[in-house]
Amino acid sequence: MSSIQITVIDREGVRTPDVEWEDDESLMECLVRNSYPILATCGGNASCSTCHSYLDEISFETAGEIDEDEADVLDSLTEAEREPTSRLTCQIPWDEDLEGAVVRIGPF
Ligand code: FES
Repeated sequence: MSSIQITVIDREGVRTPDVEWEDDESLMECLVRNSYPILATCGGNASCSTCHSYLDEISFETAGEIDEDEADVLDSLTEAEREPTSRLTCQIPWDEDLEGAVVRIGPF
């Protein structure tokens, strides 16, 4: 089992460094396991948007392409603006190159 460490900024703006992300988890699963208030009502199927978060720019590039389903959901966000680095965290698999990523949890 491998893991990397990321920084998470919660909806109140509290920044927590050294959050452990294990290699068998999506980013959404990591956030849920670490007790962040991510509802993930669709179970990680890119259809509910409750796992929406913002990445730092470098990590956004590292995390790879956004597929059509995810893009459709991001375009229809209601609680938050889609920003250039918006992602559905359920669609981001573990990648050791994401070590040090900064993830700001979106209002949905
Ligand atoms: S968990 Fe529903 S879109 Fe990610």
